[in-house]
Amino acid sequence: MTRLTIRKPDDWHVHFRDGDILKSVAPFTAAHFARAIVMPNLVPPVTTAKMAADYRARIMAAVKGHAFTPLMTCYLTDDTDRRDLIAGFSDGVFTAVKLYPAHATTNSAAGVKSIDKVMPVLEAMAEAGMRLCVHGEVPLPEIDVFDREKAFIDRVLLPLLARVPTLKIIMEHVTTKDGVAVVRAHKDRLGATLTPQHLLYNRNALFAGGLRPHMYCLPVLKREEHRLALRQAATSGEPGFFLGTDSAPHLRHLKEADCGCAGVFGAPAALAAYLKVFEEEKALDRFEAFASLNGPAFYGLPPNEERVTLEKRPSLVCDEVEVGKLGEIHPLFGGDQVDWSLAPAS
Ligand code: NCD
Ligand code: ZN
Repeated sequence: MTRLTIRKPDDWHVHFRDGDILKSVAPFTAAHFARAIVMPNLVPPVTTAKMAADYRARIMAAVKGHAFTPLMTCYLTDDTDRRDLIAGFSDGVFTAVKLYPAHATTNSAAGVKSIDKVMPVLEAMAEAGMRLCVHGEVPLPEIDVFDREKAFIDRVLLPLLARVPTLKIIMEHVTTKDGVAVVRAHKDRLGATLTPQHLLYNRNALFAGGLRPHMYCLPVLKREEHRLALRQAATSGEPGFFLGTDSAPHLRHLKEADCGCAGVFGAPAALAAYLKVFEEEKALDRFEAFASLNGPAFYGLPPNEERVTLEKRPSLVCDEVEVGKLGEIHPLFGGDQVDWSLAPAS
């Protein structure tokens, strides 16, 4: 197969940042996707409907010329105001809520310290039909960095499923066979996004010939057995698994540093990266389910009506994306040739 026509895909997990970085990175997502779930981990985080509406307006200005809808999320804290949250959801400002365990990842210091404290918010969300996106890691120093997803499943996710029986939860950027298994075991309640980097690479990529800061993201890349389980899940067509790039841009000098930031900037080559996986797994016929159908179905949203054609045509991924005077960002596959491209609209 060298051409594939599918409903236009959505990206169910992206970081756009703000200011000059937003202006430089958002057009890459808007060029390929109809909608995207936009992460709220700005500094300061997006915690109110007013902040989300203002941020959405800045995103719309940054993607002018593209038909693109940003779907906003609220950064959950121990002090989230549930009335503002549910009103924001009813008004169409918020689509979902993001739970970062405090200190789990980039800009998560204000994240949730006590699940007990946020229970009333989670119950109100369940009643309103609002989805919860979780960063599924327990960031305690005594837990090995490669075991933090499993610890989250056992200590946080399973108890949460039991305590709020109608809340639907998305395990963002699932990275282990344990994550895949728990999604399968709770089909009506759990979904999961999968990133290109976790489908393409195992943890050896972090140390291939030397330390590779551009391969570092959170959750960190895992063992090969986990990558194989993720590939099987993504290409299975099962409704619980869908596309979410976790495109997380950081300036080059902040990644290539003594203490480098976590995040892979996947947006420019995201579709090509996923299609490489689906082609290798001989599952191109299931790409539409993963990229365009399962995500909206889990969120209770209609799929996109517009169709796009993806074709096997080599193209070069830019080596860097300039961000005004701030510096540049090195994307996934930056400087490399990829096999799949979006066909020009006819
Ligand atoms: C993300 C970021 O940079 O905001 N980083 C990452 O490694 N994925 C945060 C996140 O999604 O964990
Ligand atoms: Zn993320």
